[in-house]
Amino acid sequence: MALPRTENVALRKRDLAFSEQQHKVWRDLYARQLPNVQKFACREYLDGFELLDLPADRIPQLNELNAVITLRTGWRTVRTVVRYSDAVPWYHHFAKRQFLITDYMRGRHEMDFTPEPDMFHDIFGHLPFMVLPQYTALQELFAPAFLRATPRQRENIKRLAWFSTEFGLIRENGESKIFGAGLISSFGEIQHVMAGKTPIRPFTIENVIGFEKAIYTFNEVLFIFDSIKALKMELARYFETL
Ligand SMILES: [Fe+2]
Repeated sequence: MALPRTENVALRKRDLAFSEQQHKVWRDLYARQLPNVQKFACREYLDGFELLDLPADRIPQLNELNAVITLRTGWRTVRTVVRYSDAVPWYHHFAKRQFLITDYMRGRHEMDFTPEPDMFHDIFGHLPFMVLPQYTALQELFAPAFLRATPRQRENIKRLAWFSTEFGLIRENGESKIFGAGLISSFGEIQHVMAGKTPIRPFTIENVIGFEKAIYTFNEVLFIFDSIKALKMELARYFETL
């Protein structure tokens, strides 16, 4: 869906408004996290990372990201001034294949961990995946399920998203690899998890639904699945009951 022209202009202006300090935070986060993702991230993320070709030295503008993303998957990124979007507007945008990117960039004191997802998380953590049709097909399962769910079921869906696309792990040639964007963009937690300090359980609906999300600390438990296809099948098992 096209945005009104005035909103487009405002969005572009905001894109241009990042300070040199913010670009420098991006630059430092990118340089520090690159070796971690090369070592620990799943094949899908690394494939998408190569295709999206994010700039290392500055915060990219959304129009340049959309030039790649929309062409490949039909999704597009949209800026928001909201620092942490509520699930209802979030999934309304998802239903239109729009991925919200916050204007907020963490400060220098939060380089290892930020409880609030910032621009680095949204762009570096999520967007390489969003150029892959097999991944956007996974994301497209969530909005229809969420929008028809009861409030209690919505809490379950938020947990399923948290422990898959945000903090999930995936098996790859017998190894555990990082799948979730929250881990991919977190210098502290990706190392904590890959050092074996977080218990990992199989990703099943029953295992995940009873589990509380950790927002202000590292996750106490995480979950692993065999493949994107296996994750989709497991999610469908629950979504079809709604
Ligand atoms: Fe996220």
